[in-house]
Amino acid sequence: MSKEAWRLESADGTGASLVLVGRDTFSVGRREGQDVRLDNVAVSREHATLRRTGRGWAVTDLGSTSGTTIDGRAITPGTIIPLSHGSTLAFGPCRFILRGPESAIGSLRTMVETDAAPAQLDELALAKEGMSGGQLDALMEASGHIAAARSRDDVARLAIQELSGVTGLANVAFLVGNIERDAWHPLANVGSMVEGGEVRISRSLMRKVSSEGKPFKWRRGSSNTMLGQSVMDLQLEEICAAPAMVGGRIYGYIVADNRGQGSRARVSLDEIGRFLFSIAHIAGLAMHGLEREEEAREQALANQQLFEGAVAAFVRAVDMKDPYTRGHSERVARIARVLGGQAGLSPEMCEQIFLAGLLHDVGKIGVPDAVLRKDGKLTPEEFDEIKKHPANAWAMMKVVPRWEPMLLGIRNHHEKWAGGGYPDNLAGEAIPLLARIIGIADVFDALTSSRSYRPAMSLEQALQIMREGLGTHFEPRLGEIFLSIPNEELVRLIAPDQGTVPLD
Ligand SMILES: [Fe+2]
Repeated sequence: MSKEAWRLESADGTGASLVLVGRDTFSVGRREGQDVRLDNVAVSREHATLRRTGRGWAVTDLGSTSGTTIDGRAITPGTIIPLSHGSTLAFGPCRFILRGPESAIGSLRTMVETDAAPAQLDELALAKEGMSGGQLDALMEASGHIAAARSRDDVARLAIQELSGVTGLANVAFLVGNIERDAWHPLANVGSMVEGGEVRISRSLMRKVSSEGKPFKWRRGSSNTMLGQSVMDLQLEEICAAPAMVGGRIYGYIVADNRGQGSRARVSLDEIGRFLFSIAHIAGLAMHGLEREEEAREQALANQQLFEGAVAAFVRAVDMKDPYTRGHSERVARIARVLGGQAGLSPEMCEQIFLAGLLHDVGKIGVPDAVLRKDGKLTPEEFDEIKKHPANAWAMMKVVPRWEPMLLGIRNHHEKWAGGGYPDNLAGEAIPLLARIIGIADVFDALTSSRSYRPAMSLEQALQIMREGLGTHFEPRLGEIFLSIPNEELVRLIAPDQGTVPLD
């Protein structure tokens, strides 16, 4: 046995493991393209390297933020620390147990090397064992089914179904588990490999496949000492196992045997070895794809939460700056979203309107407190200060590309349909639709809220002023749509804090 195979086994109990074969250096980190990619925010993008030395594997921390530890002891960045079998290696919060050949698979290695009989435990000789045309057709069809599966369990079930259906194998299972604890769990199986909840397999074969990350088979021959007593007990004639593996990451194992069938076995594993290996590979790819999709979903959710958090923080900042209009932004957002819906805009557009409504007054952060909080009438100079807030918002928000679709709605929410508004003195269709919608919602909420210089108007008074503004302040068509919203709906929309953006 020339090749030493080591393995990093996840300490989280999932049984996931990474086989260190085929090269002398492995990069570890969160960045795409790392040999061992750990998708955990606490892991640095380029966290550490694992390097094969003359005396085994060694680890070097690359100055990571959360550090690398061996058996709980932190290692100094840049130093090369040798590892041994059983070491617990942690990259930030991601813990692994290192399994090396000296003790973990040494016994197996000895058995193979000292056995006088020709090697019975063979790597599947794929070049020799080709696929028939029928198997190739079946493989293409099966790969389509497996690739369309939406969960890990479904991938395993379909892989097993396809394999047993095409080959006629009596006992096939997709197993996940851990060779060191000899704990195996079937994600899917047919036949008698799993009985009474117990997975009955050759531990030696699983150890071999697991540690080397390659498919192996065994056939009962002149010597059957190699796979131990389990093979005898299980009356196995032939067994075969292949890892569902992508880039060193093992997602599980497909195991097949023809126990109990003896000479009545419908198939020889020689004939279907390559098909089994191919199905395992396709299952691995499918599981890898599902894992990446899950990662992408989690990333998208985190981005969305970050975005919503930023919006909420801005709204809170405006409310803290001008407590008298507290809750105004949230109410304008709600009213504008309903108006957008009534005007026949898409749900996506209505969400943009809602966000633009939340942020429409964010530019008030740049208006002096003495002006913003003044009781009584403003001087023309003070009003000029107030009028800067839409352009202030524009200047603040244009740095975030994702806010771009909302910017015009925010910048121009104080324009008037007949002209004369600010900051750009636009008129008619030149005013962006988003701004026309927010403008209507903004005036309506201002009228129905109490201000330092006047009490809140009744609904009827406010609606009358809105009606009088059609064609001058507001676009007539949009204004009519607004006025068609039932009064009860309007009352609900202008009710105090409804918790869309927590204010306390
Ligand atoms: Fe405003």
